[in-house]
Amino acid sequence: MKIAVAGKGGVGKTFVAGTLARLLARDGYNVLAVDADPNINTASSLGIPAEVAEKIVPLSDNEELVKEKTGVAPGKSYGQMFKLTPTVSDIVDEFGVVGPDGVQLLVMGTVKGGGTGCMCPSNALLRVLVQHLLIQREDVLVMDMVAGLEHLGRGTARRMDTMLVVVEPRMKSMDTVKRILRLAREIEVRDVLAVGNKIGSERERLFIEERLGELCVPVAAYIPYDEAVAEADMLGAAPIDHDPDSPGVEALARLKEFLKERYGF
Ligand SMILES: Nc1ncnc2c1ncn2[C@@H]1O[C@H](COP(=O)(O)OP(=O)(O)OP(=O)(O)O)[C@@H](O)[C@H]1O
Ligand SMILES: [Mg+2]
Repeated sequence: MKIAVAGKGGVGKTFVAGTLARLLARDGYNVLAVDADPNINTASSLGIPAEVAEKIVPLSDNEELVKEKTGVAPGKSYGQMFKLTPTVSDIVDEFGVVGPDGVQLLVMGTVKGGGTGCMCPSNALLRVLVQHLLIQREDVLVMDMVAGLEHLGRGTARRMDTMLVVVEPRMKSMDTVKRILRLAREIEVRDVLAVGNKIGSERERLFIEERLGELCVPVAAYIPYDEAVAEADMLGAAPIDHDPDSPGVEALARLKEFLKERYGF
C-alpha cells in the first residue's frame, strides 16, 4: 500500500503522514515513511528524538552516496553522458532510521524542478529510488510530500495507490487542491482523497464538504483543530506520544481504518 500525503504548506501533511505511519505500524504493517520535504520534519511527528533527527543527512545531500550510485558528485553536471542505472535496493537498509513502533524513515532531501526534472545526479538517484520503493518494496509506504507530486513522473505516480490531499477550511487551501488535482490527473495517480484538518467548527467542516463535493473529491476524514497536536509541536514530540487519546490522533485512527477498508489491505 503506497500512500502519498500532499497539500499546501503548513496544512498538517507531516502530522497526518507521521501519525498515520505510526498507527499502521502498530497494526503490524512494515511501514516505511519517506520524507520528501526539504524541511526534514517527518522525524519529529514519528517520535524520532531530535538528537537522532539532527544527524540525518538527506540522501540528495549525501555526496558519497550520490557519487557511488551515479558516478557524479551532487551539483556537478554531466550533460547527456549520464547513462548509469543505479541499483538502490540497499539504500533503505543502510540509511533508513528506525523510530518508535518500528517505522523506518528515509529522508530524501530536495528534488529540484518539476515535470521531467533537471538532469542533476541527485535527482536521477531520487527518481530511481522512488521507482524502486514503489515497485519493489513490500512495505506500507507513507510519503510526506512538499506540495504536489510534481517530481514523480507519469508511470511512477501510477504506482501510488492513493494520494491524500490535506486541506484546511480556507479558500487558499482549496486553490491548492485544484492545482494538485490537475497534476494528479496528469500524472495518473490512481485515487485522490481529501483530509480536512484543523477544523474548528461545524461551519468549517461544511465549508470543506461543500468545496470538495464540487470538485468530486471524497473526504476521507475530518480532523479537528487539536490543542494537543499544536502543543506536541512546541515540545518537539510526536502527537501520538504526547497525547495518544487526543481528538486529532483519534481522527487519524479513523482515517487509517477508512483506508484499510477502501483499499482492502
Ligand atoms: N489538527 C491540528 N490541530 C492543531 N494543530 C495542528 C493540527 N494539524 C497540524 N497542526 C499544527 O500545524 C503546524 C503545521 O503542521 P505540519 O507541520 O504537520 O504541516 P505541514 O503541511 O507538514 O507543513 P510544511 O508544509 O511546513 O511541511 C504544526 O505546528 C502542527 O502542530
Ligand atoms: Mg511538513
